[in-house]
Amino acid sequence: MDIVTTASLLAKKQKGEKITALTAYDFSTAKLLDEAGVDIALVGDSLGMVVLGYDTTLPVTVEDMLHHTAAVARGVQRAMVVADMPFMSYQISIEQAMANAGRFLQEAGAHAVKLEGGRPMVETISRIVDIGIPVLGHLGYTPQSVHKFGGPRIQGRTESDAARILNDAGALEQAGVFAIVLELVPKELARQVTEAVSVPTIGIGAGPYCDGQVLVTNDLLGLYGEFYPKHAKKYANLSEVILRAFKSYVEEVKSGKFPGPEHSF
Ligand code: KIV
Repeated sequence: MDIVTTASLLAKKQKGEKITALTAYDFSTAKLLDEAGVDIALVGDSLGMVVLGYDTTLPVTVEDMLHHTAAVARGVQRAMVVADMPFMSYQISIEQAMANAGRFLQEAGAHAVKLEGGRPMVETISRIVDIGIPVLGHLGYTPQSVHKFGGPRIQGRTESDAARILNDAGALEQAGVFAIVLELVPKELARQVTEAVSVPTIGIGAGPYCDGQVLVTNDLLGLYGEFYPKHAKKYANLSEVILRAFKSYVEEVKSGKFPGPEHSF
């Protein structure tokens, strides 16, 4: 089994092979996505919404992320485990960003970290990369800036905004990121960025021209009912399956059907 590395992801871009990434927040899901051949298990701070029930990613802490990253890392053998650095864990000072990034590798078993932002993050990224920690960049709609953007809105629609994102991508590449997540940008801009940088781009709501795709696993599984993003595709409707199972259990316990003779000692 060939484990996924920054070098193997780069080789995929160079060969024109698509990269697959999904979010994971727990051991069992991580095991399954690894078995399915997904390249990157991203412990996204989207766990704030889909696991912890917050409205945004902003309340998620480094401790929350370490806890879930460690569970995911225990579940994978092949995939690269990337831990999202939560809000305010890398913006205050470069030293703090380096120390927090290190915790994800040292305490939680991550292989890399992800952080949001373009040019203003270049120095931070380059120092983290310099100490041997691979960094995944994140441009376009960056959920930790939800209040600046006024919600999950497509970025890079105007010429100047598109030029800024393109420019930011070049700056991140120079800073040493091993790949860049492009979230909620028009597909033609994603194509331009993908052609302009030598590192892989991984799109979410960024159309088909990126080098890879990432989805929030709960969206793909139809597990999270509050809000369904337009860019996501439901490959299953697990909410329905789970609800049906829970209801059957309630009925069977109430009626005395469960536990029957085959589940009793
Ligand atoms: O937190 C997350 O799950 C992410 C992906 C949407 C890329 O950042």
